[in-house]
Amino acid sequence: MGWNSWNRFACDIDERLIRKTADELVSSGMKDAGYTYVVIDDCWHGARDADGFITADSQRFPSGIKALADYVHSKGLKFGLYSDAGRKTCGGRPGSQGHEYQDAITYARWGVDYLKYDWCSTGTRNAEEAYALMADALRATGRDIVFSICEWGNNRPWLWASRIGNLWRTTGDITDKWAGKHGYSWGLLNIVDMNEPLWPHAGPGHWNDPDMLEVGNPGLTPVENRAHFSLWAMMAAPLMAGNDVASMDAETRAILLNKDVIAVDQDRLGVQGRRVAREGDREVWVKPLAGGGRAVLLFNRGETPARISVTNEALAYPAGVRLKVRDLWAHRDLGAWKGRFEAEVEPHGVVMLRLDARASVVSDPRR
Ligand code: DGJ
Repeated sequence: MGWNSWNRFACDIDERLIRKTADELVSSGMKDAGYTYVVIDDCWHGARDADGFITADSQRFPSGIKALADYVHSKGLKFGLYSDAGRKTCGGRPGSQGHEYQDAITYARWGVDYLKYDWCSTGTRNAEEAYALMADALRATGRDIVFSICEWGNNRPWLWASRIGNLWRTTGDITDKWAGKHGYSWGLLNIVDMNEPLWPHAGPGHWNDPDMLEVGNPGLTPVENRAHFSLWAMMAAPLMAGNDVASMDAETRAILLNKDVIAVDQDRLGVQGRRVAREGDREVWVKPLAGGGRAVLLFNRGETPARISVTNEALAYPAGVRLKVRDLWAHRDLGAWKGRFEAEVEPHGVVMLRLDARASVVSDPRR
């Protein structure tokens, strides 16, 4: 969990924005909720120096990256950077090809805790080899660095990347639209449908990454933001906020800070949930949780309200199972599970439940 500059700011970044975002992550409560990594995406780079070492853009990052990393660390957060496996990043800055060990050692000296590694200008490079080379370089520094593989699912990284990185993008770029293709980016529904079938490949330490959050960016409604956040939690996706934290409204904050939904995402069983039923625009999703519970999502993709129901059978529970139910967006305990649940779900909306074993009856110590 963390924040990344790209979805909201693209190349319009500087050290002031990163410092301010770190401050706001703390004051908004996001840090306490688990958003730990502050990651600068593309366009922080200047040129390579005479010895080939990468430098920061001196206009936008005049204090240098080390000072910025120190500042982020002083807030109790972790610090991340972006590079690219090709000669150039997607934004035309110097890539790491041919400088892998030199860049890794530079990042370690600066105090980098997370590297997102993109796939522009890679020509005929073999993806597995290119990512393994950078992974080796990072490992050789001796510093603990999360490695985020970003080749957009082109080379089916779910089949090879669990030995190389901690998360891998499964899709092209997300954008803050409900559905469809927009330039080279995709709406939420398209991203969800690409990532969902890959559920068997995710697990602790190696996750499918359906791209960063658009929650709080202008193109989505509050209802859509709730659906987006819920689906990412059901898919055990990395939760990298991609909004302007400094100007977020109360509604966005309440979504990003929904501790019950975050707990589903971060559940220690580490199983990616999946769609178990689909009828037109009505869907039911289930994510098994540690302790035998389940997160359940009733999801209405359509344009009119829809009644959606779920039964023990869809949840792979035996009849008569004893569970308690909580509604994670209404923030309400609903009492005992009755083997079936039905709700009317608004267009583009969700109802998200959590079922857990009921606390066993404690025997009276006086007897
Ligand atoms: C493509 C990636 O998929 C995006 O997330 C972002 O990192 C851009 N490149 C940056 O140029």
